[in-house]
Amino acid sequence: ATENKAVITLFGATGDLAKRKLYTALFKLYQKGYLADHFALLGTSRRPLTDEEFQQIVRESISNIPETENGQAEAFSKHFFYKSHDVTKPEHYEILKQRLAELDEQFGAEGNRLFYMSMAPQFFGTIALNLKKQGLLTDNGFNRLVIEKPFGRDFESAKKLNDELSQTFSENQIFRIDHYLGKEMVQNIQALRFGNTMIESLWNNRYIDNIQVTLSEKLGVEERAGYYDQSGALRDMVQNHIMQIVAQLAMEQPVAFTDADVRVEKIKALRSLRLYTPSEAAANFVRGQYDAGDGTNAYRHEDGVDPESGTETFVAAKLMFDNYRWSGVPFYVRTGKKLADKFTRIDVVFKKPLIDIFANPRSESDQSLNSNVLTIFVEPNSGFAIQLNAKRAGQGFTTEPVDLRFLQSDSDKKESPEPYERLFHDALEGNHTNFASWAEIAYAWKFVDVIRKLWDIEKPQFPNYTPGSMGPAASDELLARDGRKWVYRL
Ligand code: BG6
Repeated sequence: ATENKAVITLFGATGDLAKRKLYTALFKLYQKGYLADHFALLGTSRRPLTDEEFQQIVRESISNIPETENGQAEAFSKHFFYKSHDVTKPEHYEILKQRLAELDEQFGAEGNRLFYMSMAPQFFGTIALNLKKQGLLTDNGFNRLVIEKPFGRDFESAKKLNDELSQTFSENQIFRIDHYLGKEMVQNIQALRFGNTMIESLWNNRYIDNIQVTLSEKLGVEERAGYYDQSGALRDMVQNHIMQIVAQLAMEQPVAFTDADVRVEKIKALRSLRLYTPSEAAANFVRGQYDAGDGTNAYRHEDGVDPESGTETFVAAKLMFDNYRWSGVPFYVRTGKKLADKFTRIDVVFKKPLIDIFANPRSESDQSLNSNVLTIFVEPNSGFAIQLNAKRAGQGFTTEPVDLRFLQSDSDKKESPEPYERLFHDALEGNHTNFASWAEIAYAWKFVDVIRKLWDIEKPQFPNYTPGSMGPAASDELLARDGRKWVYRL
């Protein structure tokens, strides 16, 4: 492993994400040698803490990861420092600036700075502006910004945020996190498509009937009601994760597998996504909110949720791309909380043979063929399956669906880095492939804003689905209307 040298400044260092994901990701990079002697992290948040107290928090956060050398966690934590900080006070940046310069010197980070914003989004713009004004950026190394979602709550606010960030950082210095892009099997979409003649030559409206993307969660809103009730599934999952997955499924082959080339194609794909009129949006989008069931509360009775909340905890939709490859092929997507299970999968349903000789009245047998389906299992299993029709063994002639399946082994899975580990490393390397560009985010918001506006006007009939189901009946009807079904159903 080549060591990445940098001083990382983390805004929101005592937050939940930092403690659950970020320190463990950094520790794994340290164990693999991507981080070694020449890195330091300066944590900030409002809370006063000493360096020792902060290092203790870091050690606790990584305590579930076995050390690969004695004293490793302790040694790792010695790269962590802390300054309490009020992001709205310019003079506080002066203190950070000085501290960063000292750490750079002490650890030999060669002027490389990575700023990571993992805190309330209303401060993202203020922080970026102050980083520039108070001169926290260096001239001798890289300056990069990693930023967590939510990236705005509609196109307007996202644009405002982006304009603010752009005063300090150029597009190629900004790394917008979408952790779904860090998942092994989401990245595998490109390998599957562009590495296989068998797949890519059929990847169009001549052979594909429809594509289904399901991001299903078993848990409810848990402790995040404050955020979630203001957001809802459309903003929380569709605008970002689903749009990113769909863009990778729909895009054309990039000229080369570089971040710049992949971006160009994703942007083109999102541009050709059909922008719905309000009445089309009403016809092609379904929303839901979970009821009580299995001894658990209805969404409206969760802690911190408005008892009359109209926030959706489920979305299903039919998306259409207006381009030569996809014209006429629906992309059905759905996501929700309190559904039957926790999983993410993509089902690509192929057209049936134009002529089914087995069901032909002139044939001996009378049966119909199933559609071929390519399923990409993103989580909890990682792998894919292809469903084919084959002859059933034995006398006579009947066909039956058979399954060709590849699932990653447990040891492969253990080797695969978690999304945050991978994405942290990409940001340190300056590789944008698995981050969302501004143009992608902008198109995704413009698409989603139409739906949001409609839903903000019309009062929903909530609650409308039971925990443990796959969402409201209208989600099944969305496909039934087109003579189709969800491949995964209960
Ligand atoms: C986050 C959403 O982006 O993704 C959460 O804010 C959701 O509401 C989570 O639970 C799901 O991520 P994963 O990786 O567990 O599928």
